[in-house]
Amino acid sequence: MEIFRLAKASEIYNISTKNLTELLQLKLIPHIKKISTSNRASYYIPSAFVDYAKEVLNFETLEDATGKVEDFYNKNGTKIITFSNLKGGVGKTSVASNFAYSLAVLNKRVLLVDMDSQANTSRYFANQYFTGKSIKNIFDTLMRKEKIDNAFVHSHIHRLEFDNASLDLLPSELALGRVVEFSRAVFTMPHKKLNDILKYVKDDYDFIVIDTPPSTGLSLHMAIYASDIMSIVTDAEDFSVNGLKELASEIEEIEEETDRSITVDSIFINKVKNSKIHEVYIEAIAKLAIEQNIDNVFTISDSTRIKEAQNLHIPMLEYKSELDKGLVMSSSVMEYAIEKALEG
Ligand SMILES: Nc1ncnc2c1ncn2[C@@H]1O[C@H](COP(=O)(O)OP(=O)(O)O)[C@@H](O)[C@H]1O
Ligand SMILES: [Mg+2]
Repeated sequence: MEIFRLAKASEIYNISTKNLTELLQLKLIPHIKKISTSNRASYYIPSAFVDYAKEVLNFETLEDATGKVEDFYNKNGTKIITFSNLKGGVGKTSVASNFAYSLAVLNKRVLLVDMDSQANTSRYFANQYFTGKSIKNIFDTLMRKEKIDNAFVHSHIHRLEFDNASLDLLPSELALGRVVEFSRAVFTMPHKKLNDILKYVKDDYDFIVIDTPPSTGLSLHMAIYASDIMSIVTDAEDFSVNGLKELASEIEEIEEETDRSITVDSIFINKVKNSKIHEVYIEAIAKLAIEQNIDNVFTISDSTRIKEAQNLHIPMLEYKSELDKGLVMSSSVMEYAIEKALEG
């Protein structure tokens, strides 16, 4: 992927830096802004973002874009996407969070929902514990048979502000797992309950991204019932291929039980190393994807940059070393986000 600084982009796209800066400031062209210690902003402009803006806003040259009205909202309504795998530690949380953020950079209104009681998504971006202020409390309220509404759900949603984009988080906490399982005894159709919660705020977003726990269970059933699309995140290790087959049959069972069909449209193979054995597993996973009619197979290399960004509680796209290296680690997540954003 090509990524330019302001001066270079202005040269390439044949537009004055002044006009280009204006377009970036209006967010007509998504970009990544870094504020340096001298307080001067430098702009990083991925070519893919320019292409995206051109397509969404329907203009040929950047000059045509001046005076355009900003409208990046989904034409076809809210899309709900779940990231899943029955295995833990493969990168579900890393991919789901960075995907949600990438959509926000593309000017979409995004809600990130943490359905894992480990609450790693909540802590990655918010670096805080949400005890008593999470989705768990909404489930508590439903179980007491109390009515909820848009304002009530929003009162549990937290705004995440980053340098380049903002998105919303519906966080989790440790007690979520227990409450979700307990809800089986309370509701006749417990798998519908996440959907029941999200429907109150659905219209406020273009995308809702759900991160799930590394196990089968009611949380996964709820997420699948609420979703339109599912993306699978896996590593390229022994058992991963079998694990994917298990997940596929689990999804089929849930579809039958919940009378709902979901499209699995992508697999992210994460933590890929340059090795013979990984090549073999990637090939096996790609073959499986074809058998299962899964359109996209992405790979993400193993890199400490992902961990480093997480330690700083910032998205990959805002991490300096990642920018310096040309957004290599974030490129496939960004590619998927652009694909979904254009479908929206
Ligand atoms: N491509 C990668 N390279 C190196 N470390 C990674 C990569 N992706 C994720 N990690 C690290 O692996 C750990 C597990 O990732 P996480 O996203 O929490 O997985 P999951 O949600 O599937 O349990 C985290 O410490 C994360 O920083
Ligand atoms: Mg996780």
